[in-house]
Amino acid sequence: LSAINRIGLLTGGGDCPGLNAVIRAVTRSAIHNGIEVMGVLDGFNGLITDQFQPLSARDVSGILPRGGTILGTSNKDDPFRCRETAPDGEVTFTDRSDEAVANMERAGIQALIVTGGDGSQTIGLKLCDKGVQVVGIPKTIDNDLMGTDITFGFDSALQCATDALDRLHTTAESHHRVMVLEVMGRNSGWIALMSGIAGGGDIILIPEIDFTFENIVKRIHERRDSGRRFSIIVAAEGARLPDGSVVSRMAPSGNTVLGGVGVVVARRVEADSGMESRVTVLGHLQRGGSPSPFDRILATRFGVKAVEMVMDGQFSRMVCLKTPEISSVPIEEAVASRKNVPPDGETVRFARLVGVSFGDR
Ligand code: F6P
Repeated sequence: LSAINRIGLLTGGGDCPGLNAVIRAVTRSAIHNGIEVMGVLDGFNGLITDQFQPLSARDVSGILPRGGTILGTSNKDDPFRCRETAPDGEVTFTDRSDEAVANMERAGIQALIVTGGDGSQTIGLKLCDKGVQVVGIPKTIDNDLMGTDITFGFDSALQCATDALDRLHTTAESHHRVMVLEVMGRNSGWIALMSGIAGGGDIILIPEIDFTFENIVKRIHERRDSGRRFSIIVAAEGARLPDGSVVSRMAPSGNTVLGGVGVVVARRVEADSGMESRVTVLGHLQRGGSPSPFDRILATRFGVKAVEMVMDGQFSRMVCLKTPEISSVPIEEAVASRKNVPPDGETVRFARLVGVSFGDR
C-alpha cells in the first residue's frame, strides 16, 4: 500500500463534460487502493474557505454520464491572489495560499489532484512550490493546454457545435442566407476549426489567422455564383477583427469574457454582400450536458492514472494523453505556453483543400 492514505480532489476553472467521470474514477480507484478522497468544494475557493467533503463509492455512483461537477467549481478564485472589493469599490488582492495549505494539512490531505485548465494548473504549480504534492489532470473544452494531445471536454463541445452546424445548414439552405455560428475556445481556434470541418463550414474564422471582410464576401459571392445561395461561417469567439481587436467585456469578477464577434461579422457581411445574415451564439451549451463516450473514457483513464501517480510519488506532474498511451508531463511544461492552432499545420491545409476559407485570401 502507498504511504499516502488521504488525497484531496479539486475541479477548478470553467466546468466541462467529463469532470464527474474524473471524480468517479479517482474516487473508485483510490478507495480500491485504500486511499480516502476528500472532495474540495467550489474549486480553489474550497481550499481557502476550508470546505472539504469525504467522497465514498456511493457518492460517485451514477455520476458518469452527468455534465458539470458534483464538487462545484469557480474560475475567479486564486489562493495566491484573492480578489476583495471594499465598500468604496476599491479592489485589492491578497495572498491566502498559506491558509489554503494549512486547511489541507488540518484535513489530513497528503496530496492534491487538481483537475483544470491552464489557470488551475498554474495555481497547482505554485502550490507545489509551497510543498503541496500535486498531480494535475488536464481539462478544458478549448483544447488549448500544452503537454497533452487532447483534453477531455473538447470532444463533447465539438459534438454540440457540429450538431448546431448541421441544424443551421438546413435552414440556411432553405432561406438562402448567411448563417454565422459563434463558438467558444477563448484565444484558440480549435473548437471553430474542428467543428467547422466536421460540420462542413464554408468560412472559419480563428484567432490564429487574420481575416478581412473582403475575403469573406468574395467567398460568399463565389459560392452564390456557382449556385450555392447560402454560406455557413464558423467564428471562434476569440477571432480578431481586421483592426486587430477582439470583442470582449470585463465581468464583475475581473475576468475578461469573450463574445460578440459573431454579431459584428454577420452585420458587416450582410451589409457588404447584400445577403440576409443571421447569427447564433452557441455559448455555454457547449459546456453543459452529458460527456461524449470519448470524453467519458478519457476522463476515466486520466482519473485512474492520477491516482497511480499519487501512489508512485510522481508529483508536480500532469496526466496527459500521448496517443495511444496515457502518460504524464511536468505541470511546468503544460502551462509554459498555450496550444494554438498551427496556421500552416496539416489540419488547416487539409481544410483549405476541401474548400474552407479562413478569410485570409
Ligand atoms: O475555457 C472554457 C470557456 O468556456 C471558454 O471557451 C470561454 O471563453 C470561457 O470559458 C467562458 O467563461 P465563463 O463561463 O466565465 O463565461
